[in-house]
Amino acid sequence: MILVTGGAGFIGANFVLDWLASEGTPVVNLDRLTYAGNLENLAAAAKDARHIFVKGDIGDRALVGKLLREHQPRAVVHFAAESHVDRSIHGPAEFVQTNVVGTFNLLEEARDYWSGLREPERGRFRFLHVSTDEVYGSLGAGDPAFTESTPYAPNSPYAASKAAADHLARACHHTYGLPVVTTNCSNNYGPYQFPEKLIPLVIVNALEGKSLPVYGDGGNVRDWLYVGDHCAAVRRVLQKGRPGEAYNIGGNAEKTNLDVVNAICAILEELRPSSLIPHPSSLITFVPDRPGHDRRYAMDTRKIEAELGWKPREKFESGLRRTVEWYLAHLDWVGGVTSGAYRDWLDLNYGQRGRA
Ligand code: NAD
Ligand code: DAU
Repeated sequence: MILVTGGAGFIGANFVLDWLASEGTPVVNLDRLTYAGNLENLAAAAKDARHIFVKGDIGDRALVGKLLREHQPRAVVHFAAESHVDRSIHGPAEFVQTNVVGTFNLLEEARDYWSGLREPERGRFRFLHVSTDEVYGSLGAGDPAFTESTPYAPNSPYAASKAAADHLARACHHTYGLPVVTTNCSNNYGPYQFPEKLIPLVIVNALEGKSLPVYGDGGNVRDWLYVGDHCAAVRRVLQKGRPGEAYNIGGNAEKTNLDVVNAICAILEELRPSSLIPHPSSLITFVPDRPGHDRRYAMDTRKIEAELGWKPREKFESGLRRTVEWYLAHLDWVGGVTSGAYRDWLDLNYGQRGRA
């Protein structure tokens, strides 16, 4: 039994489905079902007795304590977070509440539970804290990639809240001995990603003939990792990662945003869904930049490769094609998540931006 938090979100749901298919042991899935959480993501596990879904907040200590005592998990895999940088710019308070205070409360309950375990369960227990490359700040074009010892320099409220959580997790290991392992991962893409993030937003907008908003000059660089590869990395870290350590995870696929948007347009042109306009790249619109926009992220993943034997399997080109195909095959899912609240978000984030 493992306890997963945020398992109804994009990466968490992929992880839960992967886990049930590959490891086969039961999962308790604690998720508050915010706008980003969606039980439809878990439809494939709806009738699976090994999946126990609990709607609740990671910051609710009474609930978390009860779940830990009741289910006696051998690990907590902590995905739950507010995850979108643009939303953190419009409303940072929720990010502090969930990512910092929520993670702190979860760590406290995990520590209490772990302290009461006997050997060998106590020695085997793991708290796997899922974090991001954004805590390291921004790179220039020729800078070496982030390593696990790159000093933290978060630039957005989202990144700062994740950095704070990472520090609390680290301190919990250093001071109390809780077997915490942290992963810092680059940009994920794949099935079930909410269409507020670049790749699904561009796919969905292109299908609707709407503009494809590119912030600034489109030259910002991200390192893209297929979500299934991230899930495999998390499983490997859970299995073999050393407590107290952090592991960088990345796709070795640095791309400018403009390259990503053009690649999606090219795949769509080739697949030719019926609603598509003849040349979707004509919808690309440069809009005013994200405030504080980090220029480039890149991950040095030699530690996880050498120590744990993990490497990404999916190439960006094939992973992106699979992703576009998934969205085309799941237009019902898209319809379900692009509701009124989603439209309100688009108005808030893009309405006043206009064109650059
Ligand atoms: P997401 O926004 O798609 O999902 C987050 C999930 O957490 C949702 O299901 C939501 O309902 C749940 N949640 C939010 N607040 C909660 C709370 N207080 N209590 C319980 N559940 C709560 O996020 P994602 O993209 O799947 O990211 C998952 C994790 O991975 C996050 O910690 C994020 O920082 C990290 N990460 C994401 C990426 C990426 O590219 N998406 C890359 C690196 C790291
Ligand atoms: O690097 C890991 C991080 O990747 C995760 O920690 C975050 O949870 C995740 O949201 C993601 O953050 P980004 O800000 O990099 O992802 P996003 O998809 O929002 O943006 C990717 C790039 O595309 C970024 O440079 C901003 C740009 N962008 C984004 C949107 C939504 C645009 O140009 N236009 C857009 O409309």
